Amino acid sequence: MSTTARWVTVAHASEIAQGNSRIIRLDDQAIAVFHLDDGWYAIEDLCTHDGGPVAEGRLEGSIIECPRHGATFDVKTGAALTFPAVSPVATYAVRVVGDDVQVEWS
Ligand code: FES
Repeated sequence: MSTTARWVTVAHASEIAQGNSRIIRLDDQAIAVFHLDDGWYAIEDLCTHDGGPVAEGRLEGSIIECPRHGATFDVKTGAALTFPAVSPVATYAVRVVGDDVQVEWS
């Protein structure tokens, strides 16, 4: 059985300046939405090392550092870049329609 993805409005684009992020919840899942210099990206806010709130960490370019043990991830791809994380975080498609930031959610 397949599920149908839909676009869900999660924020106003004008409220998230470039270089910043916003943590939102969809179906009790924490999602971090990032406004980078080349667009918008979203990852699950759940570190694959030990469940830390990765998006609360320091963001430099597209690289986020988990505040718990320092693993880094590329928010564009979800790739784990440094130990102790070895698995990628989930990513979600993001689009902006007018002032609405929308995440593809299924
Ligand atoms: S929980 Fe993120 S690095 Fe350990």
